[in-house]
Amino acid sequence: MRVENQRVLNALPGLDVERKAGASLAEMTSLGIGGATDLLRIQRHESIPELLKLLDEEGIAHKFLGGGSNLLVADEELPFVALQLGHKGPDVVIEGNFARVDAAADLGRTVTFCAKQNLGGMEGLIGVPGTVGGALRMNAGAYGTEIGAYVREVKLYRAAQRKIETLRGEQISFEYRHTSFAPDDMMLAVTLELPSKSYAEILQGIRICNEKRRASQPLGQKSAGCIFRNPPGGSAGRMIDELGLKGHAVGDARVSERHANFFVNTGKASAVDMLALIAEVRGRVENSFGVTLENEVVVWNA
Ligand code: EPU
Repeated sequence: MRVENQRVLNALPGLDVERKAGASLAEMTSLGIGGATDLLRIQRHESIPELLKLLDEEGIAHKFLGGGSNLLVADEELPFVALQLGHKGPDVVIEGNFARVDAAADLGRTVTFCAKQNLGGMEGLIGVPGTVGGALRMNAGAYGTEIGAYVREVKLYRAAQRKIETLRGEQISFEYRHTSFAPDDMMLAVTLELPSKSYAEILQGIRICNEKRRASQPLGQKSAGCIFRNPPGGSAGRMIDELGLKGHAVGDARVSERHANFFVNTGKASAVDMLALIAEVRGRVENSFGVTLENEVVVWNA
């Protein structure tokens, strides 16, 4: 969607919002798939309520884009604009055992920055791609660690109230790859409380997780991480593997040879290819195991 509305275009500079016309989502997502739309980069949190009010008044649909690492976007021009947080201040501010982190900060860099300040706990999250905001909204986890365990406060734009609020950790529920945030809430900043550990000890934990990940996941390839959530008590990857589907492909969308719950784009895969592969694998698992796998990847349809 290209913004042609003059009232909106005129207001953007004053709100400190930069517009990138016709941004390619294929270039902004780890899967390397997706059509174009206007990207609005918000440089000031305080502008968000006014920006969203304006977009609503002018009938311009929008979705929030984090790091694009868990996202499958339709091939066509999108019928909404993408909003993304830019930020000017420091990514992380440490005070004792508390780390206040901007939602736009890279998760891996945040883990290592905190490590250097002798704050640990998040070693398992080291190889999880994407932003802290994205990790927070879906309660990202790996190797026994979930980010929700460390959250003490979240600053967010609450779409229903149309304002920026701060929630305490106890007011948010964090479950397996799920949180109580509304789908259109926008994460702005988070305060984490992290245990004190020596840098050497944290580094050791990070190394172990990195090795496990390198051994079991297709890290160099274009993917959105795990495609399906694990069903209660089960493993989507193991079930897909047991069906002999590793390497199975629709066009350039392929079930990874290394980890069967990772679907990789080996060249010029389209969203249509990837969605067809997802549907086929879901159907095969359903027929054989009687389990309906749910998407973990977020899909943006055109
Ligand atoms: N397995 C197979 N074949 C495969 C893949 C896995 O047999 O192709 C078996 C493994 O041998 C193991 C079991 O399935 O016995 C579980 O596999 P793994 O330890 O790789 O973990 P997972 O359940 O497949 C989850 C998360 C990952 C996270 C890892 C490590 C989900 C959907 N996936 O994977 O998160 O990195 O644990 O903690 O919860 C993601 O969220 O995108 C993601 C990749």
